[in-house]
Amino acid sequence: MRTRKTIVVTGGAGFIGSHVVRRFVRQYPEYKIINFDKLTYAGNLTNLRDIEDEPNYLFVKGDILDAGLVQQLFEQEQPDGIIHLAAESHVDRSISNPLDFVQTNVLGTVVLLNAALALSNKEKDPKRNWKINSTGIRFYHISTDEVYGSLEAKGLVAGETYFTEETRYDPHSPYSASKAASDHFVRAYHDTYGLDVVLSNCSNNYGSHHFPEKLIPLAINNIKNNKPIPIYGSGENVRDWLWVEDHAKAIDLVFHQGESGETYNIGGNNEWRNADLIRLLCRIMDGKLGRPPGTSKQLITFVEDRAGHDLRYAIDATKIRTKLGWQPSLKFEEGLERTVDWFLANQDWLDGVTSGSYQDYYEQQYGGR
Ligand code: NAD
Ligand code: TYD
Repeated sequence: MRTRKTIVVTGGAGFIGSHVVRRFVRQYPEYKIINFDKLTYAGNLTNLRDIEDEPNYLFVKGDILDAGLVQQLFEQEQPDGIIHLAAESHVDRSISNPLDFVQTNVLGTVVLLNAALALSNKEKDPKRNWKINSTGIRFYHISTDEVYGSLEAKGLVAGETYFTEETRYDPHSPYSASKAASDHFVRAYHDTYGLDVVLSNCSNNYGSHHFPEKLIPLAINNIKNNKPIPIYGSGENVRDWLWVEDHAKAIDLVFHQGESGETYNIGGNNEWRNADLIRLLCRIMDGKLGRPPGTSKQLITFVEDRAGHDLRYAIDATKIRTKLGWQPSLKFEEGLERTVDWFLANQDWLDGVTSGSYQDYYEQQYGGR
């Protein structure tokens, strides 16, 4: 009997994926962690420089849409689990290129589900007809709170409306529509074939290694370089922010202890209007950069609103708190300070990402293998 667990993490070179890979590589030296990533513009192997030589880590370059390659990898490695994070993740890009999101987020997920099912079927239980045995591969799908649509602003004041696991899906952007579709496929593979699946829907993450096209790292980069900070529309839109390492911890718990077929909402209980968040960030950055108070906020520039801009996201994380004992560890102000410190101390990372040179790291490190 095999004792070593093999886990394939898709999208492990991205923002959240790299934190998940690092956590699993460090916490579980007895596991084999395989990072399967296409290295799109959002995939950055320098994110994992500190663990890339660990004996329990393997990087495989590949596209989740490449069914032959995925099947070959699964047959060769016989993974016990898939933690699926690979996706196109930026709402603005989904507005200009929706088809890319359908391909990666929907079709890519179904390719992975098929490959997981093909392995699981080898352990078919004849008594349960075509349904697979529960000892098969665990498929963990990482999703977003954006599938639930948009909440009214009044909840922020009254504290009365949140997304629960029972909230009806109501996606508005091509990104959230593609994630919603992929969530439905994952549940369909559980209900139809008995595949062991778990899902989680998380709120906005922030932290180190965040690609500077998203609000917080973009604002940090622009403040640092004295460039305008674009705030869409009125800046009244509300997001619930969670430190990325707290998300990685939640993913660890759901993967190991989540009940098959169940969904867990993950959130920071930390709602901020975009304009207020940016003002806080400006105050922190003035302090860190030794600028007179009030300097950076002069860079705030209100620009045209995003099409179909969801007003408010807010997660009710009661289920994961009570069933799995998870809760966020960091207060937002502290997490934001740590994030700013990381970006200021890692100018080479930001330079690599903004110049595009990070994309050569694969060739340098792996010689194109
Ligand atoms: P990201 O854009 O930073 O990283 C995505 C990763 O997937 C990259 O490494 C990229 O190279 C890889 N990838 C993309 N297409 C691929 C393909 N066809 N084959 C293989 N790899 C591919 O994304 P992120 O912000 O880290 O998000 C990771 C996951 O978490 C996504 O599924 C996203 O929907 C979900 N999520 C993100 C947030 C957030 O705030 N960022 C919140 C909730 C859920
Ligand atoms: P983003 O980081 O793109 O995450 P998401 O759209 O998935 O929530 O955006 C967070 C919020 O910030 C969202 O309300 C859009 C807004 N935003 C801006 O105001 N300016 C910007 O330059 C960006 C990228 C986002």
